[in-house]
Amino acid sequence: MIQVLDKQFNLFIEAGKIQSRINELAEKINTDYKDQSVTFVVILNGAFMFASDLFKRININCEITFVKIKSYEGMESKGKTSEVLGLTESLCGKNVIVVEDIVDSGLTIETIKKIVLKEECQSVKIATLLFKPTAFKGNEAPQYVGFEIENKFVVGYGLDYDEQGRNLDAIYQLKN
Ligand code: IMP
Ligand code: MG
Repeated sequence: MIQVLDKQFNLFIEAGKIQSRINELAEKINTDYKDQSVTFVVILNGAFMFASDLFKRININCEITFVKIKSYEGMESKGKTSEVLGLTESLCGKNVIVVEDIVDSGLTIETIKKIVLKEECQSVKIATLLFKPTAFKGNEAPQYVGFEIENKFVVGYGLDYDEQGRNLDAIYQLKN
């Protein structure tokens, strides 16, 4: 058990398990995009650790770019997403994979997808370490999912609770 600010969390997914699952996801992407090139669009801040471990195992031609969206404060979704910052290069004609830490309501990926599709890219897919299917309100589930989890708050491995806990190498779940 760990303490982050005023809350207690239990170990939920240990570091080794995260790494072996990322291995599998990378293998799948390497196979699916064999002989093609991919532009990864990483959503900061939460996806930085997942993205870094994933990319070390990617062996196809790729470009990596980072964007930022503010969609969450503390433990409650604001219900709407704000602007996308940092997308400076053209995605026209490219195979895009958006890299997320967690897909919860799906609002964030819907926002990103709309912007990316406007650029007339070749394809858009979503790779996320965590997916909360029961919270998801979008139309299309992410194509590359590390772990499907129940609708409970988690921290660690890039994910924060009020900006704390991102440095943890495992994922912890809010204690009841
Ligand atoms: P969505 O737009 O509702 O899908 O929310 C996605 C964003 O909310 C993610 O990029 C995270 O930053 C944040 N988020 C959602 N669930 C959690 C959680 O359990 N812990 C920490 N952050 C979360
Ligand atoms: Mg966050």
